Amino acid sequence: MRIVFAALVAVPLIALASTLATGQQSRAADPGETAYQEACASCHRTPTRFMRRFVDLSQAERQVALDDFLKTHHAEDPGKRAAIIAWLEANHVRR
Ligand code: HEC
Repeated sequence: MRIVFAALVAVPLIALASTLATGQQSRAADPGETAYQEACASCHRTPTRFMRRFVDLSQAERQVALDDFLKTHHAEDPGKRAAIIAWLEANHVRR
């Protein structure tokens, strides 16, 4: 009886643990966040301050402004630049 009980408890716990682990993994693996950590975080620990300048723009204007600026500001690679901009848009636009 004890063994059956242990199995009934253990299986959902394992399922829950692996769901949580996967969720964390996919968060950490956001390519924009990774690129930000590599290319920007040494100078801008978080984007909060520099993003204030862009919050009043429309989303399209903000993307163009960031893209233009970052071309010559530590994000020359177009793929990484696009990933960083998408990550900023999704996580760091506060009004
Ligand atoms: C070597 C340090 C350094 C790195 C690395 C760096 N920045 Fe900056 N960044 C600065 C400084 C200093 C300023 C303020 C002066 C200026 O506008 O150039 C700034 C300004 C900015 C601004 C404000 C522009 C504006 O018009 O107000 C943005 C946006 C920005 N950085 C984004 C980024 C992003 C995204 C990355 C990574 C791709 C990055 N920075 C990497 C030092 C850095």
